[in-house]
Amino acid sequence: MTSQTARTTLTSNHIATSSFVGVEKAAAATAARVAIDVSGVAKRFGNHQALDDVSIRFQPGQLTALLGPSGSGKTTLLRTIAGIEAPDRGRILFGDEDVTWKQIRLREVGFVFQSYALFEHLSVFDNVAFGLSVKKVAKSVISARVKELLERVELAHLAHRMPRELSGGQRQRVALARALAPSPRVLLLDEPFGALDARVRRDLRTWLRKLHDEIHVTSILVTHDQEEAFATADSVVVMHDGKIEQVGTPRDIVERPATAFVKSFVDPRS
Ligand SMILES: Nc1ncnc2c1ncn2[C@@H]1O[C@H](COP(=O)(O)OP(=O)(O)OP(=O)(O)O)[C@@H](O)[C@H]1O
Ligand SMILES: [Mg+2]
Repeated sequence: MTSQTARTTLTSNHIATSSFVGVEKAAAATAARVAIDVSGVAKRFGNHQALDDVSIRFQPGQLTALLGPSGSGKTTLLRTIAGIEAPDRGRILFGDEDVTWKQIRLREVGFVFQSYALFEHLSVFDNVAFGLSVKKVAKSVISARVKELLERVELAHLAHRMPRELSGGQRQRVALARALAPSPRVLLLDEPFGALDARVRRDLRTWLRKLHDEIHVTSILVTHDQEEAFATADSVVVMHDGKIEQVGTPRDIVERPATAFVKSFVDPRS
């Protein structure tokens, strides 16, 4: 038994359907570690080249930050990976599978937006259950999975609240639990903490890092805040003007900036 499986089984012991959920989670943990390969992707809006021949590999099981100034193409790249935008050229692979033309709902991606896109008329519990309800998963399985996720995001005690009764930080944790509920292959976060105040933001990024260490789903965190990128991610991708400027560890980016742009972006005094 791998340590991952052992941990999964242990944490599910208190759940009625533990063996089923344990098996499903162990399978998801393995399946979730796919690389995302973007190759030669271009996207134009009118006469603006939002993505200009972008090729990059997001490593399986890693949390990668996509860092760059406003308008550099971060959201466009994320939306193209999710299938919300179609590229003009290029390919996107999840593991060995070419998903370039696969419908968004079949791609198995979890997406968290900056704005709190919760269903306002549904409780916290029902928001998190949503993705599984539409898949017609058995009620007992949904209930176990939602409880497990709400415990993970430390909101089990607020399961019956409505979104309007939550703080901004709590809402984003519900959004994250909702994105994770259907065991996505890929987790995409577009400035998820952008609208929160500095202290909550810092708490949440520490918490996201901890959560990622437990679940290891291949994740991309879009941010224009370099401190957030460096503090949270295994690896950082710097974008500028629709192009990738550098890929490296936070340390590489700071100590060995590959281009004049990266140098001035990480240290505006230089
Ligand atoms: N649907 C659209 N129609 C026209 N132009 C668009 C569209 N979406 C994005 N753009 C343009 O493409 C460029 C890249 O936008 P994108 O949203 O990817 O930037 P970003 O790096 O996410 O910026 P921010 O940090 O401000 O969110 C911008 O110049 C933007 O105006
Ligand atoms: Mg954006």
